[in-house]
Amino acid sequence: MPLEQALAEVAAEMAERTDRGDVATYIPQLGKVDPKKFGIAAVTNDGRTLVAGDADQAFSIQSISKVFTLTLALGNVGDALWKRVGREPSGNPFNSIVQLEHENGIPRNPFINAGAIVISDILLAGHQPREAIGEILRFIQFLCDDETIIIDREVAASERATGYRNFALANYMKSFGNLHHAPELALGVYFHHCAIAMSCRQLAMAGRFLANGGKNPATGHSVVSAERARRICAMMLTCGHYDGSGDFAFRVGIPGKSGVGGGILGIVPGVASLAVWSPGLNANGNSKLGSLALEKLARMMNWSIFAP
Ligand code: DON
Repeated sequence: MPLEQALAEVAAEMAERTDRGDVATYIPQLGKVDPKKFGIAAVTNDGRTLVAGDADQAFSIQSISKVFTLTLALGNVGDALWKRVGREPSGNPFNSIVQLEHENGIPRNPFINAGAIVISDILLAGHQPREAIGEILRFIQFLCDDETIIIDREVAASERATGYRNFALANYMKSFGNLHHAPELALGVYFHHCAIAMSCRQLAMAGRFLANGGKNPATGHSVVSAERARRICAMMLTCGHYDGSGDFAFRVGIPGKSGVGGGILGIVPGVASLAVWSPGLNANGNSKLGSLALEKLARMMNWSIFAP
């Protein structure tokens, strides 16, 4: 089936659904988003950008930003990063604190909140928080070739005002010596990168390098090595949906990273970068219709990293 038709069919089907999940309200600003929104975008390695639904409306990318901060931090410190953050699925919710005590303040992976806060701490090295935040935003703008992408300061402030669990995680890791800066500084970076606002079209553009062996397919320029791109995709597959990662791999069969804003970045290695947005979440905090839409699209297009 032509990709454009598949996207249109998926978007039309999702528009009809009434079982949309629940919009996140624990960050008050996110609770204001219309749950009826749905957007989807695909950017193919051969240079096509195809969209359907509300694909040009910006939303809060939240934890999807952790793919880009991990990429940047690996560029800064290389494999030394894995001394401070693990690479195993947590099997726990994204904001869980329980494993940290047993595992001496070393978070299971870079995508749970604790892991991403350590990554923010790594990105702070030698910088003021404002500079580290600027570096992350510029990196994402560079990946999309779009300087209009911004941080939604109201979302960042809303999360800081209610981020008691993240403060607990950061303070706890500081007590084990796994934060090198003051917890509030690492959290300042973390809250701001989670508050970056992007559309599905922009997000799919940002993921191009992961679908194309580490290179921007439009320019041929290398963002990361092919090996690093594969490894980031491996982390997305195993840890990108928290304790829903196994279910996403089972149903969709491609690496993906979700955010509580309702977005998902999906990578079909060698083929395309995908972004979907539907604000209602399932019980694991992942977009309910976003997951379903990617499942249907992958089936229509016969996309799976497990396909022969
Ligand atoms: O720290 C938080 O709770 C949010 N900034 C990000 C959480 C998130 O997106 C989890 N993803 N599904």
